Amino acid sequence: MKFFLDTADLAHIEEAAGWGVVAGVTTNPTLYARTGGKLADFPSHILRICALIEGPVSAEAVGETRGEIVEQGRELAALDSHVVVKVPTTIEGLAATKVLADEGIDVNMTLCFSVPQAILAARAGAAYVSPFVGRFDDISEDGIARLAEVIEAVSLYDFGHTVEIIAASLRSAHHVTQAALLGADIATVPFGVLQKLIKHPLTDRGLASFAADWEKVAKA
Ligand code: E4P
Repeated sequence: MKFFLDTADLAHIEEAAGWGVVAGVTTNPTLYARTGGKLADFPSHILRICALIEGPVSAEAVGETRGEIVEQGRELAALDSHVVVKVPTTIEGLAATKVLADEGIDVNMTLCFSVPQAILAARAGAAYVSPFVGRFDDISEDGIARLAEVIEAVSLYDFGHTVEIIAASLRSAHHVTQAALLGADIATVPFGVLQKLIKHPLTDRGLASFAADWEKVAKA
């Protein structure tokens, strides 16, 4: 499983890039809004992310019609070869994905919540499909069980092109563990979750005892 960072925060991306484990970045309008960025600065912001990360950077096309999504998608894809156009899993999104994919533009279909949505996204030509987990948990449903269904269903078919499942809306180390065990191709995680993933109390305890024993060696 690869790790993507689910943020538009440049400081967090720069910091996590240095850890050597971040294979890509996913952004969305909410994540960009959190940076305080202006609409006009969005393209340059995406370019700055691309300069920090050697891998796919999802930037969302925010249009209502297939024409608007395609137009924005083309503009975003033209920014940098790493840009993946994020498109909502709707009828207009499907139609736009087909056009963009036929032009050789990688699409990440987002806001996917069901098996049929995921299969349709893959059929339309999406290179990435993003089933959301945490938003199911938010409404007292089992997001991991829904993710498992999508991974299993997509794995049953040949779509004629590579389709990678991005486990999205992950909010905890538990979500990431389950996504890994289910065979998700990618987990996209907020910076805070990525920080928590490497922590373990036994690692800390082991380090403390090694340090204490090494001090004894130094004094001997
Ligand atoms: C995925 O690409 C989305 O940006 C993200 O995972 C949504 O997460 P949330 O449900 O925590 O907002």
